[in-house]
Amino acid sequence: MLAAILGAGAGGGFPQWNSNAPACRRARAGDPSARPRTQASVAVSGDGASWVLLNASPDLRQQIEANDFLRPRTCLRSTPLAAVVLTGGDVDAIAGLLVLRERQPFTIFAAPRVLAVLDVNPIFEVLARDVVVREPVELDADIRLPGGLTLQLFAVPGKVPLYLERPGELPAIAEDGNTVGACVTDDAGKTLFFVPGCAAMTPTLAKRLRGAHAVLFDGTLWHDDEMIRAGIGQKTGRRMGHMSLDGPDGTLAAFAGIPVRRKILIHMNNSNPVLLDDSAEHAQVRAMGWDVGYDGMRIEL
Ligand code: MLT
Ligand code: MN
Repeated sequence: MLAAILGAGAGGGFPQWNSNAPACRRARAGDPSARPRTQASVAVSGDGASWVLLNASPDLRQQIEANDFLRPRTCLRSTPLAAVVLTGGDVDAIAGLLVLRERQPFTIFAAPRVLAVLDVNPIFEVLARDVVVREPVELDADIRLPGGLTLQLFAVPGKVPLYLERPGELPAIAEDGNTVGACVTDDAGKTLFFVPGCAAMTPTLAKRLRGAHAVLFDGTLWHDDEMIRAGIGQKTGRRMGHMSLDGPDGTLAAFAGIPVRRKILIHMNNSNPVLLDDSAEHAQVRAMGWDVGYDGMRIEL
C-alpha cells in the first residue's frame, strides 16, 4: 500500500487565515521550522494507479496540484482518483467534494449518518448522482475499494459537525457513527488507520489498533485548554470532540500501551506546538516514537 499525506493540518490549516498568533506568523514568514499544513486529507492506493482519498479537505484543489500522482494522465478529462472515503461531516472533511464537480465519475464511501448530512444539503447535488455514486458503508463491515484495498469504518467517540450543533446545547460525545475511523487493508494484509477526530481512547479502539502497520491519529491539540490559554478561542479540545496529546487521558499516554508499527499525528491545529519543529513538544513526541505528519509525507507499507 502507498499512502500520502495531502494535508496534515486541522480545520483552518496552518497558518489559519485569520490567525496572527506567533506560530502562524512564523509559518507565513517562511520559517523552515514552522512548515505550513493544509487541511487534513490522505490518499491511499493498493496498486499505485488508482487512488482513494480519505476525506476531501477544502484545500483539495491545491493538494491535487501538489501531488502529481493525483493529476489527470490519460484522456482529456480523467483522474486517478477513484473514490473518496469520509470520516465525518465536518467542513474540513467534506468541503473538498465541491472541488470535484465537473461530471467526473467517482464513488463516495461514508457511514449512513455522514451521507445523510450530504443528502440534506442541496449544494452537494453539484456532484450529479448519475455520475458520482454515494455508497453507504455499514460500520464494522468490509467493503472493497478500487485499486485493491479493503475498507472498514468504525465508530469512535465524537459528536455532530459544528454547524449541526444546537445553539445553547452541549453536543453529546457518543460512538453513534457521526465520527468514524477508517481502516484500510491491502491484499497483503497491511493495515493503515486514519482517525483524524477522536474524543477518547476506548478499550475497543485500543484493541482494534493493536498491531496496525500505520496509524494516522488525531493530533489536534497539545493541551485540552490551549486555545483558551492562548486567548484565541473559548473551547476545550474535549468540547470540540478531540482528545489532546498531553495529560493522563491524552493520546501519548493512551498509545504507550498499544503496539503499532508507525504512529503519525494528523489534523493538528495551528495552536499545537508540535507543528513547530524546534519546540520541546515536537522533540517529546518524536522521542516517544511518533512522526509529526506534514504535507507531502509518503508512507509505504
Ligand atoms: C473539528 O475537527 O473539530 C472541526 O473540523 C471543527 C470545525 O468544523 O471547524
Ligand atoms: Mn476537523
